Amino acid sequence: MCGIVGVLGHNEVAPILVEALKRLEYRGYDSAGIATVNRGRLDRRRAVGKLVNLSDLLVHEPLAGKAGIGHTRWATHGAATVINAHPHRSGPVAVVHNGIIENFRELRAELAEKGLACETETDTETVALLVRHHMDQGLSPRDAARETLKQLDGAFALLFLFDGEEDLMIAARKGSPLAIGHGQGEMFVGSDAIALAPMTDRITYLEEGDYAFVTRAGVEIFDAAGRRANRDVQKIQLDATRIEKAGYKHFMAKEIAEQPIVLADAIKHYCRGGKINLPEELDFATLDRLTLVACGTASYACMTAKYWFESLAGLNCEVDIASEFRYREPPLPQNSFAIFVSQSGETADTLAALRYARDKVAKIVSVVNVATSSIARESDIALPILAGVEVGVASTKAFTCQLAVLLLLALEAGRQRGRIDDAALAEHLKALASLPGLMNQTLTREPTIAATAAAIAEAQDVLFLGRGAMFPLALEGALKLKEISYIHAEGYASGELKHGPIALIDKAVPVIVLAPRDALFDKTVSNMQEVMARHGKVVLITDAKGADEASYGTWKTLTLPELPALLAPILYALPAQLLAYHAAVAKGTDVDQPRNLAKSVTVE
Ligand code: G6P
Repeated sequence: MCGIVGVLGHNEVAPILVEALKRLEYRGYDSAGIATVNRGRLDRRRAVGKLVNLSDLLVHEPLAGKAGIGHTRWATHGAATVINAHPHRSGPVAVVHNGIIENFRELRAELAEKGLACETETDTETVALLVRHHMDQGLSPRDAARETLKQLDGAFALLFLFDGEEDLMIAARKGSPLAIGHGQGEMFVGSDAIALAPMTDRITYLEEGDYAFVTRAGVEIFDAAGRRANRDVQKIQLDATRIEKAGYKHFMAKEIAEQPIVLADAIKHYCRGGKINLPEELDFATLDRLTLVACGTASYACMTAKYWFESLAGLNCEVDIASEFRYREPPLPQNSFAIFVSQSGETADTLAALRYARDKVAKIVSVVNVATSSIARESDIALPILAGVEVGVASTKAFTCQLAVLLLLALEAGRQRGRIDDAALAEHLKALASLPGLMNQTLTREPTIAATAAAIAEAQDVLFLGRGAMFPLALEGALKLKEISYIHAEGYASGELKHGPIALIDKAVPVIVLAPRDALFDKTVSNMQEVMARHGKVVLITDAKGADEASYGTWKTLTLPELPALLAPILYALPAQLLAYHAAVAKGTDVDQPRNLAKSVTVE
C-alpha cells in the first residue's frame, strides 16, 4: 500500500512533504521518511511509526532542500524498522515505492554476485541497488532508471531522486497509481490527487506501464514501450476543507455522523422526477446474470445487493471477493454485467478482477467513491457514490452510500425487467428519500449505543447474527468491531448458528442480533432464544414492534425507527458502526488508524 510524494519546489520541501504525507497516511503508517537534494547532496530522515515521529525527528535534525521525495509505509517485506523505512538509498539514488517487486529475490542474488549487498529486508532496496549499478556502469539517471524498470516484475509506483540533480524526479507506474501535479514552475508527484490538493488541482495520471521524467519545467511521459506519450492534464475538483475532523474526536465519528447528508446527496444525484437516472447503456432488461466483486466492507455491500437484485429484479447474481475471483477463472456469460465496488477505486485485487472480466462481459460497471481512481477510469460505466473523502480506515459512510447506489441499481433493474411498476417504484423512492431523516433519528440514540458498546468492550468474543439481507450486515458489524477494537468477532447467518457457532455461547459472549420486525423476524427470534437458553448475552437491535415482542430476556435492546424491510440493511449499519466505534473508544485503541491496517490496499 504505502503513500508516495515528490516535490520540485521553489521553497524548502521538507514541511510540504510532511504535510502531503499526512494526507497519504491512510495508505499505511508503519514508518515514514523523506529524502531531499540540497546543494547537490542527497540526504534523508526516517522514523518508525506514525508521521508525527518523523515530524519530531525533523525538529531536531532538519533536512534542507527544494527537491524531495517522501513515503509513508505499510510494511510488506521486513518489519517496521528505521532501516526498512523508505526512502531507500544506494549511492547516488533514493527511491520510494508502493507495491511489491515480485522478483526481488532473484534480483538480490544477481546484485550480490556483482558485490552489491542488501542491507534491508525490503524488496524496494533492490530497485535502488539496480539504479546505482547502472549508474556505476556510466548510465545517466534517466537511462539507469529506464534500464531498471525493464528488470522489475510485480506491481509498483516508484519515485526516484538523485545526487547532484536538483531538478529531476523520475516516476514510474505499473499496477499502482501515480498522479503528476502541475504547479507554477513547480512540479509534484503523489500516490493520489488528494495528497497534492493544497499544491495544485492540475493533475496528469500516469497510465499502466508509463514512466515520467519530471523537472520544474514540466513532465515528459513515456509508455511501456518507451515511446513518448501524451497524457491529459485534468482539473481535479477536490475540496480540501472536507478532509478535517470538524470538531469530532475522530474521522470515523465524523464520517458516521455525515451519513444522513451524504446519503441524501447520493439519492438526490440519482433520483429525479420520480425516476432513477442512470446511464442509458445500463440495460438490465434481458441480462442473464450479474457478477459483483469487491473486497472487505465493499464485498458486504455486494452481498446485500445480491438479495436486492434477486428479489426486486429476478436477476441471477453472483458475488465474490476479488482476491478469490481473480484466480479462479470463473466463466462469465457474455450477456452479463460485472460490477466492481470499491471506496478507493484502487484496491489491487478488485482492479485485477476488473481486468479479468474485461472483454468477457457486456459491460464493466464500477461503484466507486473516488471518481478519478483506476477502477473508475477502467470501467465502461463508473457510478460515483458521492460519500465525500473517507479518512477513517474503517469504512462507514462509503458503505451506506454503496448500499444506496446498489439498491437504486436493483430497483432500476426491477423496473426494466417488468417486476416493478411506476407506482411501486415511486413508493420505493419515497421510502428511500425518508432514509436520511431516519438516520438522523438513529444517531440521536448514540448515548445508549455507546453505553452498550462500553459493556461489549469487556468481552473477548462477540457474535453478530442476521437473516436475509441482514446477514451481510452481521458480517460487516463483526468486521467493524474487530478491525478497530481488536475484539474477536464473527458474523453468522442466524440459521447457521446451530451448525457450529452455538458451541461458543456462554455467559461471557455478547451476541448482537440484527432483527428488524420483518418477514423473517420470528425465525431470527427463535435463534435468539437458543442463544439465551445457553446464557448468551443478547443485544437485540430492532424496531419498536420487534422490541415489544421479543425484548424479554435480552441483555440489552436497542430500538431503531421502523422502516420498510428493503432499507433496513442501510439504517442498521449505523448502530453496528457506533457499537464498534464506542467499543474502540472504551478500549482506547487508535480508531482512525488501527494497527496493521490501511485504507487503500494496493498490494494483493
Ligand atoms: C481495506 C479497508 C476497508 C475496505 C477494503 C476495500 O481493507 O481497510 O475499509 O473495505 O480495503 O477497499 P475499497 O477501497 O476497495 O472499498
